[in-house]
Amino acid sequence: MISNRKIEHVEICLFGNVEGFANTLLDDVVLVHQAMPGISFDDIDTSVNFLGKKMSAPIFVTGMTGGTQELGKINETIAEAINELNLGMGVGSQRIAIEHESARQSFKIVRDKAPNAPILANIGAPQLAKGYGLKELEYAVSMIEADGIAVHLNPAQELFQPEGEPEYPDTILSSLRDISKSLGVPIIIKETGTGISMETAKKFSDIGIKYFDVSGQGGTSWIAVEMVRDIRKNHWKKESAELFADWGIPTAASIMETRFAVPDSIIMGSGGIRNGLHVAKAIALGADIAGMAGPVIKKAVEGKDSLITFFNKIIFELKASMMLTGSKNIDSLKRTQIVIWNKLKEWIESRGISLSTYEKLRKRE
Ligand SMILES: Cc1cc2nc3c(=O)[nH]c(=O)nc-3n(C[C@H](O)[C@H](O)[C@H](O)COP(=O)(O)O)c2cc1C
Repeated sequence: MISNRKIEHVEICLFGNVEGFANTLLDDVVLVHQAMPGISFDDIDTSVNFLGKKMSAPIFVTGMTGGTQELGKINETIAEAINELNLGMGVGSQRIAIEHESARQSFKIVRDKAPNAPILANIGAPQLAKGYGLKELEYAVSMIEADGIAVHLNPAQELFQPEGEPEYPDTILSSLRDISKSLGVPIIIKETGTGISMETAKKFSDIGIKYFDVSGQGGTSWIAVEMVRDIRKNHWKKESAELFADWGIPTAASIMETRFAVPDSIIMGSGGIRNGLHVAKAIALGADIAGMAGPVIKKAVEGKDSLITFFNKIIFELKASMMLTGSKNIDSLKRTQIVIWNKLKEWIESRGISLSTYEKLRKRE
């Protein structure tokens, strides 16, 4: 049953050791300090427009959950917090609610509690290979009056999941191209912690997709989550999952690859974003907005106040980064001076991207 698996996933993310197998490489991005910032802290404007709606800060909770009453409660807490702070969120895969009416309320609660926020629906790309089409995606969107739908890519997770179904034929692309023409809201191509490469970004841009949530490596590892489940079930895949636990594209590299491949895309930088400095670095590097999952669910189970305190700390750290780089708003943060060095520089250069070419792209010049 999908809902039992979802509960186990949430439990493992809350209490298991599923982070730290790989690196975001955000440490290899330095925001250059400006001792004479030319701005006052109180004048800093962190607001952004996303999916046609204004958010107070570029912080989005990426899709995680829904399906049962308890998981609906987590969605409710997150929705209340993002509504109060004027942020945005996605829900977890809605497959369960498309197939079972009883699961719908745990998703609908999000729109009830956050009537004006940007909200993303969510469905797995493998479902498109197995027959989902316009009707199912329209239904997922209308269920929560979503402003867009994240179609998640999780080939690594499916591979190492004991009962996984790694089905990723190119018919997914043709199907999405047709669906996107009639859906009425944008499709966001979203990874789940192993990152989007320039080749993958290009495949989707070729069918008209403009939105990407890179979800790179360095945060929650879904290979590690499935490794824990393999170990629990004493499944033969457990050693292979361990071998691949650091597989993927670091978040910083994935942001750069996606921006390079599709210069006019709208990019959510996510995967291992854990504080406001990470948010600032992701944006300075080429993202339009930052996304976060694992840490949010940990705070959400403590309650709304705990989550709001967490978000306020992140917003303060983002503003501190903006103050110290002299960036009065998010547009100027996108153009702030940065240094890219160490492994990230090697990664990017070995992928044939020159840093001087990239500099113009990230500043949207
Ligand atoms: C408990 C949990 C459940 C998740 N479920 C989904 C999901 O249903 N659909 C999806 O697209 N991503 C899902 N994700 C992936 C996240 O949206 C995100 O891409 C990934 O965890 C990396 O971000 P992080 O390092 O901030 O956790 C889930 C993440 C967590 C922690």
